Amino acid sequence: DKDGHKHFMAKEIAEQPVAIDRTLHAYLSETDDITLPDELDFTKIDRVTMVACGTGHYACLVGKYWFEQIAKMPVEVDVASEFRYREPPVSDRTLALFASQSGETADTLAALRYMSGKADQIVGLVNVSESSIARESDVILPLYAGPEISVASTKAFTCQLTILLIMALKAAQQRGIPLPEGMPSDLRAIPGLIHQSLMLEEQITASSRGLATARDIIFLGRGQLYPLALEGALKLKELSYIHAEGYASGELKHGPIALIEDTVPVIVLAPRDALFEKTISNMQEVMARGGRVVLITDAEGARIAGEGTSEVITMPQVPNALAPILYAIPAQLVAYHTAIAKGTDVDQPRNLAKSVTVE
Ligand code: F6R
Repeated sequence: DKDGHKHFMAKEIAEQPVAIDRTLHAYLSETDDITLPDELDFTKIDRVTMVACGTGHYACLVGKYWFEQIAKMPVEVDVASEFRYREPPVSDRTLALFASQSGETADTLAALRYMSGKADQIVGLVNVSESSIARESDVILPLYAGPEISVASTKAFTCQLTILLIMALKAAQQRGIPLPEGMPSDLRAIPGLIHQSLMLEEQITASSRGLATARDIIFLGRGQLYPLALEGALKLKELSYIHAEGYASGELKHGPIALIEDTVPVIVLAPRDALFEKTISNMQEVMARGGRVVLITDAEGARIAGEGTSEVITMPQVPNALAPILYAIPAQLVAYHTAIAKGTDVDQPRNLAKSVTVE
């Protein structure tokens, strides 16, 4: 049941405030204490290894920034199909985390089995609680996103991010590291901020018409927004079949800048954070070469850097650590509306399956 929406994807994008509310309800008490299972003990491990495929892999990449910055823990992130064959040495002080919406992805399950008996603990971040990955994990952290029907993952991604952030906060607490200001109570703001971001839909619909005729599109982000550039590009290519690449802004001059011309739109994800100036300077290099820039930022960022861009999408102001969760919304909306403008099959893109149980 699409609940009045044209596609399951539209429904699932719109459901995110409610889905994340459910996730918060599960992992945050009414007095804002983190309520992750007691077995999760970040004092007996000294590193985290996160493994997943596709969108789940990008959620883990954001998790790496959070664990490193907030909990000061080293984190390794890999795609399951590489990890499982690399035979990486594993210390028994490793927490191994496997993120999978379906809980059935063959490569992720094989990577889990590789880590089983080697790592201190196997944690499954899954949406489907009766799944193989859930069954074979020591600790299951359900996403509570609700059923995700659309092939392209949306609400499972933002719920994964929410839990990874809560885990990083818990790890910091257990290891005696002060939490970033406002945390964890600021997490409560996520549903409302997503709701506000969803109001940008009309503007994004209009700008997506311009994107639909492009052959290539580049996404740029830096720091914790870099994985969002990767996710934006993945979502866009799977839904609209337009070739899209996500790059770390700082990598632009090491190759991709050669692609820049006025027919290649560049979407820049840049909230006004500590790295903002750096990203904007990369954006200006694009503009100096005739590139057409869509800047996704907040009001302050728009005031400072909006001039000369072909479009600015102004997001609500968000606490720093929450930016990756919020900036997922315009990334999803851009992909969805570009696909609508192109007339592709949004919920069931060609060649793709919701659950990839073959290698
Ligand atoms: C992208 C997408 C895929 C999945 C990937 C992993 O929108 O949906 O990239 O994220 O196939 O699937 P799960 O999370 O079920 O292991």
